[in-house]
Amino acid sequence: MALWGGRFVQAADKRFKDFNDSLRFDYRLAEQDIIGSIGWSKALVSVNVLTVEEQQQLETALNELLCEVQSNPQGILQDDSEDIHSWVESRLIDKVGSLGKKLHTGRSRNDQVALDIKMWCKQRVKELQKSIRTLQGKLVETAENNRHAVMPGYTHLQRAQPITFAHWCMAYVEMLDRDYSRLFDAYHRMNSCPLGSGALAGTAYGIDRERLAQNLNFAFATRNSLDSVSDRDHIVELLSAASISMVHLSRFAEDMIIFNSGESDFVELSDRVTSGSSLMPQKKNPDACELIRGKTGRVVGALTGILMTLKGLPLAYNKDMQEDKEGIFDALDTWQDCLDIATFVLEDIKVNVDRTKEAALKGYSNATELADYLVAKGVPFRDSHHIVGEVVVYAISVHKGLEHLTIEEFRQFSEVVDDDVYEILSLQSCLDKRCAKGGVSPLRVAEAIFEAKQRIK
Ligand code: ARG
Repeated sequence: MALWGGRFVQAADKRFKDFNDSLRFDYRLAEQDIIGSIGWSKALVSVNVLTVEEQQQLETALNELLCEVQSNPQGILQDDSEDIHSWVESRLIDKVGSLGKKLHTGRSRNDQVALDIKMWCKQRVKELQKSIRTLQGKLVETAENNRHAVMPGYTHLQRAQPITFAHWCMAYVEMLDRDYSRLFDAYHRMNSCPLGSGALAGTAYGIDRERLAQNLNFAFATRNSLDSVSDRDHIVELLSAASISMVHLSRFAEDMIIFNSGESDFVELSDRVTSGSSLMPQKKNPDACELIRGKTGRVVGALTGILMTLKGLPLAYNKDMQEDKEGIFDALDTWQDCLDIATFVLEDIKVNVDRTKEAALKGYSNATELADYLVAKGVPFRDSHHIVGEVVVYAISVHKGLEHLTIEEFRQFSEVVDDDVYEILSLQSCLDKRCAKGGVSPLRVAEAIFEAKQRIK
């Protein structure tokens, strides 16, 4: 039976009920709804709506219900309650009779649902932070195992300067650090308890909302009842954090797809995270990475969706807000899955160091070194840039790398070139030179790995 039957003469049409009901997705808030209800029952004792004995009876029944939903959450769906709040109340009444009908005194589903979804979000933040740290740990480990794997770094997807696979891994560790801290900030802002705000104007029972907030593990109580029941910023913030992080994961996936292609052949993804073609027997496709890249779309879609839903809403609660749930549930599940799958992808990745080195040697990625060499010999940078450009055109025409040109060949372009040029054109020298903070020199990368380990442990 609906919670609000008294005012109605006719029953709801089935088509409307199907359209309106949210139990099929908000059943996921069962635990939060029950824990919030226990907190509320305690507050009702303090204002003499419930006796201590009544509260204990309710708490025992609610705890029983909690065990039931934990062992079989899908069981909730075998019911035609309007939403999870109605479901919990009906089950409570089944267990303790009319005492259960006292629980909703002074409370509205508006402050109740605001509480439930915030509690759910807070819990998910902690789980997501764990998954981020695990992925970072795996990236750091992969970096350590590939400290000396030189490969080309790209701009415009053109070979630019040599880097190491380790340095590439550590770039993603940085992105994930920011994702982590966005969750940290969002958590702080969502740590205020809306319960006790009533439908919109506050509750008529003089409960101590700060105490209630603390009992429910919040840092403080929200300050304005209208805002409390209509605020969904925490959902928007989490979806923004999810979208940004998914964009990071998508770029990671795209790099992997390129590195794993026959053209690059820099890495080999394991059989455990690739799949075959139904027609072409030779194929081994990077589906896991493609799905990470693809799923980014739906997470960003959920962010856009909730922003559009909230945009024109007058204060305070409107039923439109029920649309917040499917998006956040799906997007955070997807984000967490992608973090976990990215970790899994790295688990037994093989870096083909001969191939990465071979590619790093091609593409004249040591040309900047030659320009810097001329500068060290007194040639102004703009001139040296031009000279090296000409040297590269020549080297291409004779199918040689810069390091394979003879001194005589160099001297056609600049008199200052000497035997010491070969040393600086080596891959090792290209790496070692980039030793300012954040650079690719093996020393700096080792430092970055060390620091990351301290941060993420
Ligand atoms: N299922 C609703 C939601 O998710 C619960 C709140 C209903 N409140 C109301 N006044 N109809 O938003």
